[in-house]
Amino acid sequence: MTIQDQMQAIEISEPGGPEVLKPISVPTPSPAPGEVLIAVAAAGVNGPDISQRQGAYPPPADSSPLPGLEVSGVVAALGEGETRFALGDEVVALCNGGGYAAYVAVPAGQVLPKPENWSHVEAATLPETFFTLQQTLVERAGLASGQTVLIHGGSGGIGASAIQLCRLFGATAIATTSSAQKASYAQSMGAAHTIDYTSEDFIERTKTLTEGRGADIVIDIIGGAYANRNLKACAYGGHVIQLAIRGGAKAEVNLGLVLMNALTLSGSTLRPQPAATKARFAQGLKTRIWPAIQAGKIVPPRITSFPLKNAADAHRAMEAPDHYGKIVLTVGKDS
Ligand SMILES: NC(=O)c1ccc[n+]([C@@H]2O[C@H](COP(=O)([O-])OP(=O)(O)OC[C@H]3O[C@@H](n4cnc5c(N)ncnc54)[C@H](OP(=O)(O)O)[C@@H]3O)[C@@H](O)[C@H]2O)c1
Repeated sequence: MTIQDQMQAIEISEPGGPEVLKPISVPTPSPAPGEVLIAVAAAGVNGPDISQRQGAYPPPADSSPLPGLEVSGVVAALGEGETRFALGDEVVALCNGGGYAAYVAVPAGQVLPKPENWSHVEAATLPETFFTLQQTLVERAGLASGQTVLIHGGSGGIGASAIQLCRLFGATAIATTSSAQKASYAQSMGAAHTIDYTSEDFIERTKTLTEGRGADIVIDIIGGAYANRNLKACAYGGHVIQLAIRGGAKAEVNLGLVLMNALTLSGSTLRPQPAATKARFAQGLKTRIWPAIQAGKIVPPRITSFPLKNAADAHRAMEAPDHYGKIVLTVGKDS
């Protein structure tokens, strides 16, 4: 494979709306020792990319300033001493940034084989949501058979992956969504129940659906006014996982609920985690989730794709009220 010195990429020219995403030509990265250079076939678009574009989620100092946290593609070059992969391997990777590009260099520990039964476009949807949920839902909250999990944003990227993990682990997923179409998508991903949060009270419905017990785990991306309500929706010993704070960072919560119901509230962001920690999540995924993907027990989400050069349109689509599923940028001759 001939690698050109310059490559096509998308930059965030300044903080702002989708229009600040501009196609540019930049030097092709070289893989450092322990890294793999991937020729990108497809790159997933995620909520954190929107926050980064808006200037609300700056990349860590040692990361690429270019957006893009996940890709699927082909190994094009190996950093010194890298023996885990070979040139031409089809792979997916959790990137530290720079995925909206023709090539990206990634620590090899964050690279996994592309599932053979998934296309590159499908496989590009895997890393960001599944690494995030391996860290939070699986390892930290201890997702287990028989539990009930309330998932806010059930029709989004994180939401649909969380629903599929619940199904895989034998847990019951209750998903909140804003429309009948999104509810039916969440059900198609494996949600046992859906709650239309625009017309229904999610605490009341969760309690009813669990015969008064509440949810063992709540996955929240809203925060703000949801914080205390999430605690109320929990069962005794429940765990609220805070993944984003779209509704605000500040909240008044009743600590009596935490005390008397033995609750846990945990939060984390994936991107600043050290490479060794991300590599540990990759191993967890390889052991339990990748075989399930291979066996067809986890299926691709609904995907809308755009050529890389139209990344601004992809972000517009992601921010539209009718968006659900995942959005993917394709890299190739028309990109
Ligand atoms: N902490 C981490 O490590 C981490 C990692 C990845 C992503 N995230 C964060 O997780 C969030 C989701 O990311 P994503 O990529 O899945 O985005 P996404 O695909 O755009 O999904 C966002 C979802 O939020 C729902 N939503 C919006 N307002 C809501 C509300 N008030 N109540 C309930 N649901 C609401 C939307 O559906 P409705 O129209 O049905 O509301 C949509 O399904 C983002 O904020 C992202 O930054 C965090």
